[in-house]
Amino acid sequence: MSPRKVIAVVGATGAQGGGLVRAILTDKNKEFAARAITRDANSAKAKELAAMGAEVVAADVDDVQSLKRAFAGAYGAFCVTFFWAHFSPEREQAEAANMAAAAKHAGLQHVIWSTLEDTRRWIPLSDNRMPTLKDKYKVPHFDGKGEANKIFLEQGLPVTLLNTSFYWENFIYFGAGPKRGPDGVLALTMPMGDKRLPGIAAEDIGKCALGIFKAKNEFIGKSIGIAGEHLTGAQLAAGLSRALGQEVRYNDVPPEVYRSFPFPGADDMGNMFQFKRDFEPAYVGARSIELSRRLNPELQSFDAWLARNKSKIPIE
Ligand SMILES: NC(=O)c1ccc[n+]([C@@H]2O[C@H](COP(=O)([O-])OP(=O)(O)OC[C@H]3O[C@@H](n4cnc5c(N)ncnc54)[C@H](OP(=O)(O)O)[C@@H]3O)[C@@H](O)[C@H]2O)c1
Repeated sequence: MSPRKVIAVVGATGAQGGGLVRAILTDKNKEFAARAITRDANSAKAKELAAMGAEVVAADVDDVQSLKRAFAGAYGAFCVTFFWAHFSPEREQAEAANMAAAAKHAGLQHVIWSTLEDTRRWIPLSDNRMPTLKDKYKVPHFDGKGEANKIFLEQGLPVTLLNTSFYWENFIYFGAGPKRGPDGVLALTMPMGDKRLPGIAAEDIGKCALGIFKAKNEFIGKSIGIAGEHLTGAQLAAGLSRALGQEVRYNDVPPEVYRSFPFPGADDMGNMFQFKRDFEPAYVGARSIELSRRLNPELQSFDAWLARNKSKIPIE
């Protein structure tokens, strides 16, 4: 048995959880041990984490008994759901309930729930500025997580609600990067007007999560938000232009145009950008860069992230 306090990390082979596992394993104070949760302990990514020193444990967020085994004996857990694997806010809530039940069963001392705003607090279903989706949501991949906050709170868990930000990796893996227009010029298309979009290097989410665990009780029972920078579409395009060495134009389209794009979830993403645009002060205000840097002194700026990642951005 490791004498260190164990953090059980859901999504350990993915962006958020992977960042946390690596942060725990490379932390010079070695305060915690990482228990990496995966559905497949034999995958290449799981083996890589084991080789780095993580304890790899198999569990599925849809199977509460497997989570109870995976959380047993741990000090804390990092909990996240995977909307884009199934597009169902109801399933995310069932998965959150499973994680909360397993956390309660294990008597964890600190749980981080990776969440986002329930946008219906700002834009109720009766507000026709944006369409209602899946019958009862405005931004399904936000609202389901925000609604699940109460699941953790009602269990009386020592939880920190961690509001994350748009990963800059979306420019690499999510199809959100610059595309060449009919005029041959690259364009970054986002319906954000002149408003700021909080963004973050995905790896920094895990590093901030480690900072939250290290802070002991300070953030228990609190809702906090993190971001690397708050940049407008024009500023993001300018950063991309500098990094790629060719012009990237900011293409500000109306949200309804974005919603009509032919990719799965375009309506959800269109509503998301519109929410961030129309409620910029609240959304940006909930994501302090200063706090993020305190939690994670290595917090990357967009330019620093670009310097490391520009060659991975797919350019036609
Ligand atoms: N993209 C963004 O800008 C952004 C911003 C904020 C929040 N988010 C939210 O972040 C969430 C996803 O987190 P992520 O980006 O870290 O995920 P990710 O990189 O897609 O990784 C998901 C990992 O979780 C594991 N997983 C998937 N289904 C599972 C299940 N049923 N049980 C246990 N593990 C499972 C998979 O590992 P195995 O195959 O090894 O089991 C996978 O490696 C989404 O809900 C999204 O809404 C995204």
